[in-house]
Amino acid sequence: MEDVFVGVKLKIVPSKRKEGIMKEQIEQIKLTAKEEISKVEDLKTLVDLKVKYLGKKGELTSVLRGMGALSPEERPVIGSLVNEVRDELEAIIAEKENSFKEAELNKKLEKETIDITLPSKKAIRGSEHPLNRTIEEIEDLFISMGYEVIDGPELETDEFCFERLNLPKGHPARDMQDSFYITDEYLLRTQTSAVQAHTMLKYAENQKPIKMICVGKTYRREDDATHSHQFNQVEGLVIDRKENKVSLADLKGTLEVFVRKMLGENTKLRFRPSYFPFTEPSYEVDCTCFKCAGKGCSLCKQTGWIEILGSGIVHPNVLKMNGYDPEEWGGFAFGTGIDRLAMFKYGIPDMRYLYANDVRFLKQFDRKD
Ligand code: DAH
Repeated sequence: MEDVFVGVKLKIVPSKRKEGIMKEQIEQIKLTAKEEISKVEDLKTLVDLKVKYLGKKGELTSVLRGMGALSPEERPVIGSLVNEVRDELEAIIAEKENSFKEAELNKKLEKETIDITLPSKKAIRGSEHPLNRTIEEIEDLFISMGYEVIDGPELETDEFCFERLNLPKGHPARDMQDSFYITDEYLLRTQTSAVQAHTMLKYAENQKPIKMICVGKTYRREDDATHSHQFNQVEGLVIDRKENKVSLADLKGTLEVFVRKMLGENTKLRFRPSYFPFTEPSYEVDCTCFKCAGKGCSLCKQTGWIEILGSGIVHPNVLKMNGYDPEEWGGFAFGTGIDRLAMFKYGIPDMRYLYANDVRFLKQFDRKD
């Protein structure tokens, strides 16, 4: 019994002493660390100190390594003491670290103050394409006269591009429009007149009057200074009940407003009888040459006139084929190339300039307003 007692006693005493020594050691580490940290004046030294005390091989960690000599009851006491000190030191270091970082940032900000009164670099602004400007102007004008702007497909069927416009297969007038066929049935539309047929069919369901324009791309197998394989057209269509008497006079008045707005108030118009399969009677409209004001020059081939529009009274066949009774309904239609209008308006000598996207060319149409 005696032996056992002595044995136990012997085992406890050195461990207890060890615990005391360790506590002292930890306290000491805490004090020196705090002292050293308080004197630090730069971030780098602070980081070094953090490693020295709290790092993997740091002083506090090595205390933990000596815990093997302690009894199982003492280990948690020392362990939590180490953790307490670690937390305390970590907090002091973090606080100091933050204040260093803040000071550094402030210094940087001070150095980098921006003078907001300095003039900025000029932003390069694009300019609206002359075609788009022309299109916008046309749309604005017709909207102001109560027209609806309607869109249609560029990939069109033979039916809508030709047949429903009184141009059956094999009709000689098809020769006037060399087309890009995709299949026997599908082609790239050669004229925005195709949208007439779409609109009539749609409005015919409720037998409603129509007042629309369609602006869009059209395609033909042509390519020279005044023709491009792709160009833009505007198509206009007005359909109303016979008793409202939409007449040739309305067509003339409308086209006069249109052309004068686009090419100048003094422009005069001339209506020449012509042929289009979808109108009867049909007219080609010429305007006085804006270059020589009608005196005769190279642009108008000395005639004083330039052909500008196709128009006419909607053919009864077209009305019938697209859902309107020609006995009860009637109206007018017109169509023109917008590229040519833009060329005339801005004095552009070659249509292909409109599609070359040369900034030197486009810059000349910079908006001044
Ligand atoms: N679609 C014709 C063309 O491309 C232009 C045209 C002529 C349209 C007479 C019309 C019209 O609506 O009535 O040559």
